[in-house]
Amino acid sequence: MPFTEDSQLDLAFDPSLIPQEIKDGLADGLHIRPLASTDYQRGHLQLLTVLTKVPDPGEDEWVQRFKLQQSSASASGSATSPAQYYTIAIISQETDKLVAVGTVLMEYKFIRGLGKVGHIEDIAVDANMQGKSLGKTIIAALTAVSEKAGAYKTILDCSGDNKGFYEKCGYKLAGVEMAKYT
Ligand code: ACO
Repeated sequence: MPFTEDSQLDLAFDPSLIPQEIKDGLADGLHIRPLASTDYQRGHLQLLTVLTKVPDPGEDEWVQRFKLQQSSASASGSATSPAQYYTIAIISQETDKLVAVGTVLMEYKFIRGLGKVGHIEDIAVDANMQGKSLGKTIIAALTAVSEKAGAYKTILDCSGDNKGFYEKCGYKLAGVEMAKYT
């Protein structure tokens, strides 16, 4: 399958929010961009299985979720969206498949002068592509987008096994994660 240029895609948000130096820093054959409306067909859900169980809702439902995220990002700064979702992917140009992905969600607060906090979620790198700095690149891109969107801080939850990875990305231990699963 030939690589699809950004100009031919319906992207989740403006790709210029991803800093050019991050795009330029990727190895040959790799491309970083916002999630696209056709990325269901580029293995988005299969990629996420390195993270957790990912039941397949079918492409129509997947596209509905994509559009929800896309409309939230385009409503940035308006009163109509309570949060913005920015999902970023790295694509192999050889296969036109996703090899890394991650999301940052912007939360609107009352504290810190109506401040915003970026929450990084669901980082996944294809098992065959781990250890090649793709995770680090996704985190750098998400952090930059979060800061451009006005975050006074960007945070995430992770297992103890991944603490060293996030430290390599410039993050510091700053609390304890609590969860109550339904
Ligand atoms: N512990 C300590 N250091 C690590 C770890 C780890 N688990 N993983 C990578 N590193 C180091 C690397 O050695 C590298 O160090 P260097 O810069 O000195 O060379 C640096 O961190 C960057 O590593 P990358 O190559 O960018 O890491 P990778 O592309 O493999 O991505 C990731 C790391 C995202 C954890 C990947 O292994 C993965 O997808 N794992 C399965 C899913 C997962 O656990 N996702 C994170 C869940 S937490 C969340 O989503 C918020």
